[in-house]
Amino acid sequence: MTEGAAMVRVLMELVLAILCLLSVVSRVLSVSGEHYGINKTHHHDYCILGAGPAGLQMGYFLSRSHRDYIILERNTGPGSFFQRYPRHRKLISINKIYTGRQNKEFNLRHDWNSLLSDQPDLLFQRVSEDLYPHADAYPLYLSMFERELGLRVKYATDIGKVRAADFTGSKGYILTDQHGADYKCRVLFVCTGLWVPQQVDFVGSDLVEGYESIPTDPEDYKNQAVLILGKGNSAFETAQSILGRASRIHMYSPSPVRLAWKTHYVGDLRAVNNELLDTYQLKSLDGLVEGGLEDIAIVRRGQDGGKSRRTGGKKRTVKSTERKEQFYLTLSELLDNRNSNKSGNITAENLPGYHDDNFSLRQPYDRVIRCLGFRFNFSIYDGSARLLHSSCARGRLPALTAWYEGRGTPNLFVLGTAAHSRDYRMSAGGFIHGFRYTVRAVHKVLEQRYHNIAWPATRLSTSQLLSWILKRVNEASGPYQMFGVLGDVILLQGSHCEYLEEFPVQAMPQLSTLSGRLVSEHGLLVLVMQYGLNRTDTLGPGRAESEWTKAWKSNFLHPVIYYYRKLPTEKDMKQRPVGWPLPRPDAVHHMVEDFLTEWDQPISHSQPLRHFLEHCLQTDLRAFYAESCFRLSLTSRKPPLFCQQGYLNKQGFVGNSHLWQHAREAGLMPAHQGSVTPAGDGTFSEFLTHAGAAVTSTINFDL
Ligand SMILES: *[C@@H]1O[C@H](CO)[C@@H](O)[C@H](O)[C@H]1NC(C)=O
Ligand SMILES: *[C@@H]1O[C@H](CO)[C@@H](O)[C@H](O)[C@H]1NC(C)=O
Ligand SMILES: *[C@@H]1O[C@H](CO)[C@@H](O)[C@H](O)[C@H]1NC(C)=O
Ligand SMILES: *[C@@H]1O[C@H](CO)[C@@H](O)[C@H](O)[C@H]1NC(C)=O
Ligand SMILES: *[C@@H]1O[C@H](CO)[C@@H](O)[C@H](O)[C@H]1NC(C)=O
Ligand SMILES: *[C@@H]1O[C@H](CO)[C@@H](O)[C@H](O)[C@H]1NC(C)=O
Repeated sequence: MTEGAAMVRVLMELVLAILCLLSVVSRVLSVSGEHYGINKTHHHDYCILGAGPAGLQMGYFLSRSHRDYIILERNTGPGSFFQRYPRHRKLISINKIYTGRQNKEFNLRHDWNSLLSDQPDLLFQRVSEDLYPHADAYPLYLSMFERELGLRVKYATDIGKVRAADFTGSKGYILTDQHGADYKCRVLFVCTGLWVPQQVDFVGSDLVEGYESIPTDPEDYKNQAVLILGKGNSAFETAQSILGRASRIHMYSPSPVRLAWKTHYVGDLRAVNNELLDTYQLKSLDGLVEGGLEDIAIVRRGQDGGKSRRTGGKKRTVKSTERKEQFYLTLSELLDNRNSNKSGNITAENLPGYHDDNFSLRQPYDRVIRCLGFRFNFSIYDGSARLLHSSCARGRLPALTAWYEGRGTPNLFVLGTAAHSRDYRMSAGGFIHGFRYTVRAVHKVLEQRYHNIAWPATRLSTSQLLSWILKRVNEASGPYQMFGVLGDVILLQGSHCEYLEEFPVQAMPQLSTLSGRLVSEHGLLVLVMQYGLNRTDTLGPGRAESEWTKAWKSNFLHPVIYYYRKLPTEKDMKQRPVGWPLPRPDAVHHMVEDFLTEWDQPISHSQPLRHFLEHCLQTDLRAFYAESCFRLSLTSRKPPLFCQQGYLNKQGFVGNSHLWQHAREAGLMPAHQGSVTPAGDGTFSEFLTHAGAAVTSTINFDL
């Protein structure tokens, strides 16, 4: 090596060293520039973890009530779950945009994707008109929702740790993000959904591909025999997509298929993905098998007859075209005990199970796919903020109170899909069309608890109650979607009542604390929608009851009204009959199911309801013409309530606008338009105006 060359080398090294130093210095500078030497701490009253549908929905309610809140999201856009799932990109939530009705509230009964807001056109139908939309539409909709409502979302903030802390006497939470910045929150909403694939440990479970990572191109499955573990919607979605390519699809799980149209539970198998049921029942090579997952064993064998013994553990990356190995399913109890539990060195030769010549799954498979759903990620919660596992759903979900606060974590609420433990396999709380209403209910609880704003209530004269109930039953979407879980509560107060909408009925014993409304000695009514409790053949004869006298036998969704003289206690709630949303009431009324879901007919619906209300309220709730009120007020010491609250109060009810016009022209009414509502409340007259009627307090019949 010449001297010159050595010099050049030394120089080069020097330059490199300086460059390195510079880059280190600049990195140090950039780090300290970002955090000014210390990690920043942000303070908020409300922190929302996750910008999915539940997080944005709560963000909207907090924003509307001008609260200090922040939504923290680890990804760069909202609804990232929908960027990836469902894998085959077809949403199965109904997007029915034509209902033949103009009523926005009613239409939400058939729109399963929109979130709630005061903007009437901020609906999902703006991004998709398909009944079962493409999944890409959902993040698009959420972005639009966030933008148009101006919600405060902080993206690219990955919270890795949540711990509890004492905030001036009450429990609050500190969230730490990936840069070490802390967020101190008085109230925390966990809206992170379910992300962790549910797995079951069995011999050979490492040989199985997961729904989260399988290829979605059907060509990858050409002429392959596929075993799918699971019989839920993700399993059937997978089967549906490869039905035309795979040679044979078998589906294996402990429970038989539960069809949503039979169980009325939208988490069960929906008809949109169930073509495999046809190919099974028409004997076209596909099939369903029941059996436990814990006691199976999946073993691998090369096509060379089991000679190749490969050690397992590693995920297979073999391309489908060069796939040689096949998988056998057997029962672990049949495995030769001398084999270790590692599937790697179990060969098909020592499997007595598959030698049984009548074993349904005796043929080998080219792939085994796990589609068992998802679970909640409990791992980011520090011991001080530990969420407990609920007893339902095999512990996949956190345990919550009836108002969605974590058990043992005060001021930490779980919303959205992860809050489904309250109504798992019962109602729609795990789905957007259900939890959008739960979020609204939780927000009302918060307003009362932290800001002393009582649950909103409409004050009605008792004579208006019947019409008001009929209106709710025929258009309200909350109790309709969240049947059996959210119900309207009517606090009776003699001549008046307070009408509270969409209260979580499982929290009924805590009604006064949660809502800030008192129950008087007149008792209360609770209106919930319910399916029949008895399993019936949902497509067979006699599946629906049509006689109002047998309304309690209704099988489809129908309104049920419970009457309690006293607020049910915690003990009553615990001891309620199986399947009942509420404890045994002092009186109960079922409104007979209706084929059109229109509960507005006089004989079948409104008269029986009126009789029931009259029984509970011990008063006459009939409506009378002014003439009759006049006569009754002369002949009866206590004229009917309707006359007392209307006619005798110089208020009345005059037909429709034609009659009104007539009354004015006949000089029965002053000509000016001063219509005042009976209860000093706009909503009822709005309803009546809607119904083509008019209310006025200025009638002055010349007696
Ligand atoms: C659970 O959350 C933690 C913290 O964000 C993350 O590191 C981990 O990967 C998550 N677990 C799964 C299985 O996704
Ligand atoms: C800031 O956060 C980082 C990452 O969590 C941590 O290593 C560091 O100690 C923190 N610094 C201070 C001053 O708290
Ligand atoms: C295999 O697993 C079963 C159950 O998990 C266990 O009882 C058995 O001892 C294991 N056998 C070996 C050889 O590890
Ligand atoms: C199975 O593998 C283990 C080590 O992983 C080995 O000790 C054992 O001998 C193997 N058994 C057979 C039957 O090959
Ligand atoms: C298979 O045959 C055996 C012996 O005949 C019988 O005991 C067993 O019940 C059969 N299994 C099935 C799944 O039919
Ligand atoms: C439910 O089924 C039981 C037993 O068949 C029957 O006695 C009961 O009347 C049924 N209830 C309803 C509401 O149909």
